[in-house]
Amino acid sequence: MFKHKNEEPKEVPFVLTKPLNHIAFIMDGNGRWAKERMLPRSMGHKAGVRNVKEIIDLCFKKYGIKVCSLYVFSTENWNRPDSEISYLFNLLRIFFRDNIERFLADGTKILVSGDLDDPRIPEETKETIKDAIEKTKDCSNYVFNVLYNYGGRRELAYAAKGIAKDVQDGKLKLEDIDEKTIQEHLYQKDLPDVDLLVRTSGELRISNCLLYELAYAEMVFPKAYWPAFNEKDLVECLKDYESRNRRFGGLKNE
Ligand code: IPE
Ligand code: IPE
Ligand code: MG
Repeated sequence: MFKHKNEEPKEVPFVLTKPLNHIAFIMDGNGRWAKERMLPRSMGHKAGVRNVKEIIDLCFKKYGIKVCSLYVFSTENWNRPDSEISYLFNLLRIFFRDNIERFLADGTKILVSGDLDDPRIPEETKETIKDAIEKTKDCSNYVFNVLYNYGGRRELAYAAKGIAKDVQDGKLKLEDIDEKTIQEHLYQKDLPDVDLLVRTSGELRISNCLLYELAYAEMVFPKAYWPAFNEKDLVECLKDYESRNRRFGGLKNE
């Protein structure tokens, strides 16, 4: 075989060798991304939401990760100005509406975790969410779990209520309650634990994200703001994950 003189060396795609079933993202830094460009915060959210499909598609289709969670609105984000909240809600509604056919075609099941009974969530947003969940319920290639009006503490309260009800109804005995019972009463009882949490924008905190599910997750905190977070940044996160020695409390040396 002759090699052309100017031929660029082919980029070897990164391949994960460590099991990574579930990746979770805290998309953070939309506002700061906009501020740096002297744009209103809303433009940061717009660019951020635009980046979502690209990143989750890379996780699913190129890096073979089956489950992807994305934290988009926390139970504490209600403390923001009304105009920002309604802009964000509208963006997310449009995101679901515009991408539903593509999710269906890819076999991606959409799940939405959070307090969706909240009367402050507009009816049309609830309708769009319900529609996306219903249409993709039989999809089985990938799972996209959107954390919407989500709080880890709220989820644990939800689980506690569910467990108490089962005890009250005689379906469960008090002495039988264990960790598995809690798992079974979370918003998504069938998802595997999170293996890797990625929080963009360099903040070193979890801000009420998946408190139960992160018990043994590896965590990475890339500097990039979410709208600018790209494949190169993602691969850095995956390489970091690949280098970790996960022991789960034991003495395993991989
Ligand atoms: C993340 O970006 C989006 C949401 C929390 C909804 P931010 O809006 O938190 O952006 P920063 O942290 O202010 O830069
Ligand atoms: C966490 O980001 C919530 C989401 C990304 C949805 P925040 O920007 O709300 O978190 P804090 O306030 O910096 O902890
Ligand atoms: Mg933030």
